[in-house]
Amino acid sequence: MRIPNHVAIILDGNGRWAKSKGMPRTYGHIKGCENLEKICSMAKELGVKYLTVYAFSTENWKRSREEVDGLMKLFRNYMKKCLKISAENKMRVRVIGDPRAFDEDLQQKIKELEEFSSQFDELHFQIALNYGSRDEIRRAVQDMARDVKSGVLNPEDITEETISDYLDTKGLPDPDLLIRTSGEERLSNYLLWQLAYTEFYFTDVPWPDFDKEEFVKAIEKYNGRERRFGGVKEEEHV
Ligand code: FPP
Repeated sequence: MRIPNHVAIILDGNGRWAKSKGMPRTYGHIKGCENLEKICSMAKELGVKYLTVYAFSTENWKRSREEVDGLMKLFRNYMKKCLKISAENKMRVRVIGDPRAFDEDLQQKIKELEEFSSQFDELHFQIALNYGSRDEIRRAVQDMARDVKSGVLNPEDITEETISDYLDTKGLPDPDLLIRTSGEERLSNYLLWQLAYTEFYFTDVPWPDFDKEEFVKAIEKYNGRERRFGGVKEEEHV
């Protein structure tokens, strides 16, 4: 089976999963977080090299105070647990998005995890936190404008690669496969630049129930597709 080098996932459906069990949304996020702890070893076993998950968007601040506080608590605990997960999987962890909106202690935990895990390279795990693709592009354009102003960057020399290098995903390959769980079929401001040629896979399975079997199903579906990159298949060149 052809294994996608980079898989991006929109973790969706924690709230509905919890509701279907008569539980509060926060319980869904706890279960979603437990599943996130497992997904890294699953990815590694399958041979995926890059995994990027959407955990908290720039729009998610609009949720209830209770829900946002619950998520922040989960992120804090997860950053600590993830030190062990990164060592077990020899996994480098990076946070994409703008962490400056988080409390100082959470920013510190993120930094510690990124620094600690920078020694590993068997799996690259990106967590999108306070991430929005338009915001990422806005920040990149600001940085480019500053560099043009200071003379570091010549506008004539700006290529698509230059733009990629100003994004939070600098140095990472573009995703080959995007998975969104829980039935919604939209991008919700996720990796808009990076997903230009990516195959999309949507499943009704809510994130807390997305297990290895479901992961394999997504990869099998991806295998059945012909990746085109705007070109034509070899045999069509006659
Ligand atoms: C979407 O489900 C999920 C989120 C907004 C949060 C994702 C968070 C986790 C999986 C938990 C922990 C993450 C980390 C990085 C520790 P939803 O709440 O929008 O579900 P719904 O669409 O059913 O309401």
